[in-house]
Amino acid sequence: MTLVSLAQATYVVAAVLFILSLAGLSQQETARRGNILGMVGMVLALAATVVLALDSSERSALTTALLIAMVFAIGAGVGVWRARTVEMTQMPELIAMLHSFVGLAAVLVGFNSHLTEESDAVHQVEVFLGVLIGAVTFTGSIVAYLKLSAKMKSRPLTLPGRNWLNLGAIVASAILLGVYIATGSVVPLVIMTVIALALGFHLVAAIGGGDMPVVVSMLNSYSGWAAAAAGLMLSNDLLIVTGALVGSSGAILSYLMCKAMNRSFISVILGGFGAEGGTSAAAGEQGEHREVKAPEVAAMLEAASRVIIVPGYGMAVAKAQYPVADMVAMLRHQGVDVRFGVHPVAGRLPGHMNVLLAEAKVPYDIVLEMDEINDDFADTDVVLVIGANDVVNPSAMEDPGSPLAGMPVLEVWNAKQCIVFKRSMATGYAGVQNPLFFRENSAMLFGDAKAQVEEILTALRVSEGASA
Ligand code: TAP
Repeated sequence: MTLVSLAQATYVVAAVLFILSLAGLSQQETARRGNILGMVGMVLALAATVVLALDSSERSALTTALLIAMVFAIGAGVGVWRARTVEMTQMPELIAMLHSFVGLAAVLVGFNSHLTEESDAVHQVEVFLGVLIGAVTFTGSIVAYLKLSAKMKSRPLTLPGRNWLNLGAIVASAILLGVYIATGSVVPLVIMTVIALALGFHLVAAIGGGDMPVVVSMLNSYSGWAAAAAGLMLSNDLLIVTGALVGSSGAILSYLMCKAMNRSFISVILGGFGAEGGTSAAAGEQGEHREVKAPEVAAMLEAASRVIIVPGYGMAVAKAQYPVADMVAMLRHQGVDVRFGVHPVAGRLPGHMNVLLAEAKVPYDIVLEMDEINDDFADTDVVLVIGANDVVNPSAMEDPGSPLAGMPVLEVWNAKQCIVFKRSMATGYAGVQNPLFFRENSAMLFGDAKAQVEEILTALRVSEGASA
């Protein structure tokens, strides 16, 4: 077997490892194994790519090896640095940024392919579509990055006739494709690239803050198709397979997210859903709120039989999951029935809360999905809303003019008592005031979530010590 055919066989092994990796990542218990399989697959894929590049390069083997080593050193250096420094809460923006790189790569590969290769009509279509998807992914992901990192307002951009603008961009691109095939000139390719860059910007800018989770998974899918298109242009089978895997799993994730948020999948793909809904993003106070202190909450918890904890983005910011896990262990030891209710878009990443709770060693069987626990709030004595806001906002169900309208939420207000942990009366990610804070059975526990939970733990320990 030659080295080249060995490299091609390695591609098949890497593709299988990527499929097994995705299967592993679909469940919390097997996610770590899935990650390891993906890493092994990527090492094999890179090694095989280097072998194939050395074999097919027109330059000397030494020059090619040096070029590859240089690119590896830069890429790995930046990758290791970012992986070590990024906070868990900054992951979504990092992912959006990485998607933009995939989009840019597809654009560059497309232009390189146009400039350096003889091409027939099929190859021209590949180049055109690759550049189109890549350019949309590139600017769309940059806007997502800016919105997720709060460098750009999360409010949707609603240009007049925006759906016509999107449609116009698609029709213009289709005409330019015809011209490109007929003339082979770079001009229609360049014009389409400019249009696609504007389209990517507009598609994501038109989406409201609360709907960003769907956009992130949709861009994930787009980046996969951009990589698959690059694979077609480079005639690299593994890139086609991997791109298609990312593209289709991203599309499935977007579909599941749309279902969870009660949004239409088609309108997400076309961009700009979520803009119609938002007319009454009331940000002001809506009545009187009541405050409690940590020792009072500790007393309520001791007297309770059933407690549900609803974690949100603020728990991640405060890194409160560890004291929360200790508090839960202590209450369960005292015979209190404690469970978690997790909303599908709580935090800033799919599965964000599940990862944090697993990290703090909270048993999986007491962490329930929204649909599994929503009917149980009426039988619950105390709900602790720890750093969650949009995912417990009743206006999603009660105010058709709210930007959150239609999104199912955790119905915490049905419990006897509801304690909201946050630092101020500020709104959540979607920028909508939360009427929950002003309900009679709600009380606010102000302060950093971690410090407050630690104070409750101290009070519980003192009380346990006194009664021992
Ligand atoms: P949010 O609505 O973002 O609310 C988080 C709350 O945590 C804020 O009201 C904030 O209030 C509080 N907080 C922040 N730091 C805190 C700290 N150190 N201690 C205590 N509280 C703190 O969170 P959520 O309910 O989890 O909802 C998620 C939102 O993000 C949804 O709108 C969702 O659509 C969006 N989103 C989700 C994803 C995914 S995939 N999950 C991706 C992108 C966007 P204070 O500032 O007053 O403390």
